[in-house]
Amino acid sequence: MKIIVVEDYREMSKKAADIVASQVILKNDSVLGLATGSTPEGMYSRLVEMHREGTLDFSSIQSFNLDEYLGLDPEHSQSYHHYMHHHLFNHINTDPNNVHIPWGQASDMAAYCRNYDQQIAAAGGIDLQVLGIGGNGHIGFNEPDEFLSAGTHVVDLTEETVEANSRFFASRDEVPKKAVTMGMGSIMKAKKILLLASGKGKAQAIKDTVSGNVSTRVPASFLQLHGDVTLILDEEAAALLP
Ligand code: F6R
Repeated sequence: MKIIVVEDYREMSKKAADIVASQVILKNDSVLGLATGSTPEGMYSRLVEMHREGTLDFSSIQSFNLDEYLGLDPEHSQSYHHYMHHHLFNHINTDPNNVHIPWGQASDMAAYCRNYDQQIAAAGGIDLQVLGIGGNGHIGFNEPDEFLSAGTHVVDLTEETVEANSRFFASRDEVPKKAVTMGMGSIMKAKKILLLASGKGKAQAIKDTVSGNVSTRVPASFLQLHGDVTLILDEEAAALLP
């Protein structure tokens, strides 16, 4: 794992945007795996700036998002569909046909999940996967458990994740308790992985990810088994690293 420690959230976002931008410049038809949440917001805003400055062309990229809440209307202000359009896609020149965000309202979720993985494979696999990390070590919505799933699947969110994400909703009761997420196999097949973490709430999960045992109790620890992972951490998130 390559670990880059920067001063703060702003620096993390700039570095992350530079890495995504290099990927798109070097391979204009890159397949990007994208995350939502607070962590990548600054990175998206910098990518939008670069596009506005005329330095970044997204017209040939394809993207696959990691996850979406189950049963939440895509128009809902907290759906990941809404998030991605609000923070990125409304402001850049991606082809809407090349943007993929899991659909949490499919009538046959099992078939939908299989199809999502087939679409990733048909696109040639993910070139660069951007990840955040949960305070409990989740990536995507692959929650700590006795076992992990390889492919895209439906998950029950842990109490901890529901609690953490309740900050985005009017009340905790409104937070969906299930989600659809790319599985660990889908993530681990990405050619390159870029994980971002900011703030002291992520410090323990980062320590466990980098130097703990590889364990289904810390899904991000599986990244130790991947050959090309870069972590960009701010000082607070890196605070417990040796
Ligand atoms: C979101 C995702 C999650 C988040 C994680 C951290 O698409 O896959 O794993 O990256 O929950 O969320 P924030 O960035 O809000 O702390």
